[in-house]
Amino acid sequence: MTATAYIPTSSTSSLRKWLLKALAALGAAATLLYGLAAIDAAVVNYRSTYDPTIAEQRLSMQRAAEAGQDLGSPGDIASHSNVLVAMMASVGTPLHAFGKQGLSESWIHYTTMPRANIVAIAMHSMLAGTAMLFGALQFWPAFRRNYPRWHRGFGLAYMVLVQTAMIAAAIYLLRTPVHLIYDQLTFYVGLWVLDVGVTVTLWLSIHALVRKRIAQHQAWMALNFGMLLTAPIQRYGWIAFAAVAPEGMRQLEANYAVSGMLIPLSFMIGYGLYTLNRLLQADQPKALLTRVHASFQPHARLGRVVAMVMQLVLAASMVTTVQHFVFDLGLTSASNSNALIPHSVLQLDQQIMASAPVTRWLFVLGTLTGLLSAMVWLWGTTFRSNGDITSRDTAWAGWALSLGTAMVGLALWQWGLQWGMPSFTAQHGGALHLFGGTMALIFATLLATALARGQENWAKEWSWFAIACLVATPSFFLLLPIMGNVGMPEHYVTAGHAYRLAAYGQWTSLVTAFVVSVYSPATHAKLAR
Ligand code: HEM
Repeated sequence: MTATAYIPTSSTSSLRKWLLKALAALGAAATLLYGLAAIDAAVVNYRSTYDPTIAEQRLSMQRAAEAGQDLGSPGDIASHSNVLVAMMASVGTPLHAFGKQGLSESWIHYTTMPRANIVAIAMHSMLAGTAMLFGALQFWPAFRRNYPRWHRGFGLAYMVLVQTAMIAAAIYLLRTPVHLIYDQLTFYVGLWVLDVGVTVTLWLSIHALVRKRIAQHQAWMALNFGMLLTAPIQRYGWIAFAAVAPEGMRQLEANYAVSGMLIPLSFMIGYGLYTLNRLLQADQPKALLTRVHASFQPHARLGRVVAMVMQLVLAASMVTTVQHFVFDLGLTSASNSNALIPHSVLQLDQQIMASAPVTRWLFVLGTLTGLLSAMVWLWGTTFRSNGDITSRDTAWAGWALSLGTAMVGLALWQWGLQWGMPSFTAQHGGALHLFGGTMALIFATLLATALARGQENWAKEWSWFAIACLVATPSFFLLLPIMGNVGMPEHYVTAGHAYRLAAYGQWTSLVTAFVVSVYSPATHAKLAR
């Protein structure tokens, strides 16, 4: 069976097409706008090293913010800080926009740091901002089709700019003590993950291009661009939080929620871009399809090994779920929880677990149903005869996997609403539950739709994302002791960094599913160009 496009060509679909185009145009405009804001930030920060009055202006703005006084006109703020701070001050309280425990600390630090650091960070923002301008149109199929030379030129410029911007960011990170980085250790680790991730995917995309594997080139580029989009999404997230933040909320607290979702969200935006492009591509001619499959035989073999290893991961996730959510009540039962998780978080978790037994059982039943059926599904689609999903027990397992994932999605949403807003007490609050719940519901629905339509290739691909959603929560209980054993300084553990790194890390499971999709039958079935 071949994968067919979801976007029909009849006139009834024209509204959907226009909506898609409008959304794409909005996304491109938001990206371009942030690219310009980043270039502006580079100029303002660079200027500040030659102009001591800028340091004084930022310090007095912080004092005004702490006193709850007006920060000045947006034009003034933009001239000595940047457009982002001006926008945050326009939509939110002065305290949130530029009070202590927030962006103000980085912006004041920028005015006092060594010249080499300011050159590195200004170069980074300038080059990364310019790269966004070149990258925004590259995923538009008509642009690639109608202007192949422009696509190549923009692509080359993008690659050079991105690589140089990442080198500049790495120099800055190496030269700056962790406590002077915004949000300190958690953000520092996240920035390194992004720097390495952007660099590796850039070179994987170049490698695929050299081997003329256009589908894989597009996939790695989509992931690469998705990771760069963390910069604008984070800033837009900060502005949104500034608008809705309750009285007294510090900007750093809002950031706990925004940066918690950032990296997995970037994987999913990359996946969305890549999948939309595949859905819009024509099917591969049958004669070529066999040749494509043949050239990816080593990947297919590796895929079978991964599917085999996954049986162990799924079994371990089931045991972990029973251990921590049936015999015990959540975070308190994590290894060394009293030392690694802030006391306020443990207390809140206990309250939520005790007050919502139905949600906990929904989560447990959903996880166990999903994981058990994932074992049958993976075995059936990978090792049985030709891996056909129409055999009765494999199809049944697919439906049960979708149902289990949907149950988990609903439970995560319930917990997310109960955890509520981020704060120093609740750390990232309900942000990660809401993000994970949304992913689980999306992939449960996509899997069910593909099964109902008999779209085998998509069903197989989306099942990996559903599985990633199911193993995410149990993986926290493995990640936390790892954080406890890396020799993290005590004051970072007390401030919640071990807990946050383990919690943020759990949803990186989604990147495994992304990598599978790069070499999936759904990708091979499309004629990439
Ligand atoms: C995804 C990989 C990226 C990495 C690893 C990275 C790294 C960094 C680092 C280390 C800082 C300094 C943080 C601090 O002082 O605490 C920074 C700040 C900054 N970055 Fe990036 N960055 C990335 C993407 C981008 C992109 C794509 C843009 C522009 C479109 C951008 C624009 C900026 C700007 C303007 C700042 C200055 C501070 C601010 O406005 O908040 N970065 N980045």
